[in-house]
Amino acid sequence: MISFKSIFNSLIFYIRNLMENILKKICADYEKHEGNIISLLQNIQNELGYIPEDAVLWFSKKLDIPASRFFGIATFYAQFHLSPRGKNIITTCCGTACHVKGSERLINGLMKELALPEGQQTTSDKEFTLEKVNCVGACSIAPVVIINNKVYGKVSADNLMKEIRSLKDKELEK
Ligand code: FES
Repeated sequence: MISFKSIFNSLIFYIRNLMENILKKICADYEKHEGNIISLLQNIQNELGYIPEDAVLWFSKKLDIPASRFFGIATFYAQFHLSPRGKNIITTCCGTACHVKGSERLINGLMKELALPEGQQTTSDKEFTLEKVNCVGACSIAPVVIINNKVYGKVSADNLMKEIRSLKDKELEK
């Protein structure tokens, strides 16, 4: 009889292999294009959705580049994410104009609606990630919220909650 432990171990082995193949492909690309760490990090994120620590350590060993160099770049640019993100990305602007127009209230409402504990950005079911950014350059329509790359201006708490609930309903229908 096949035990749960052996199925689990096979699964882990399969996932490791899969990840290693992805990393090898990215590495070949890096070497072909004469080594640009930003492109390498972008490729990791495109393939895996974020930049896992294991992937950085793998590249650090393979390319003989200190891991701190990768992390230094990854933490400098806002485009990089070091932890898994949700399927739906909600970006709230916290610049001065949006703050004055009530962005803090919108964020508090979102955290409540998504049941996000303080300090956590992604819901436990990985459906939503709530991020805060500084001015997105659309101050005339403050407060601004970006949901899955679509910009919403002059956002009211009611309209925002409607939008989030409709996204939740769509996820339930799948
Ligand atoms: S402060 Fe939010 S768009 Fe400028």
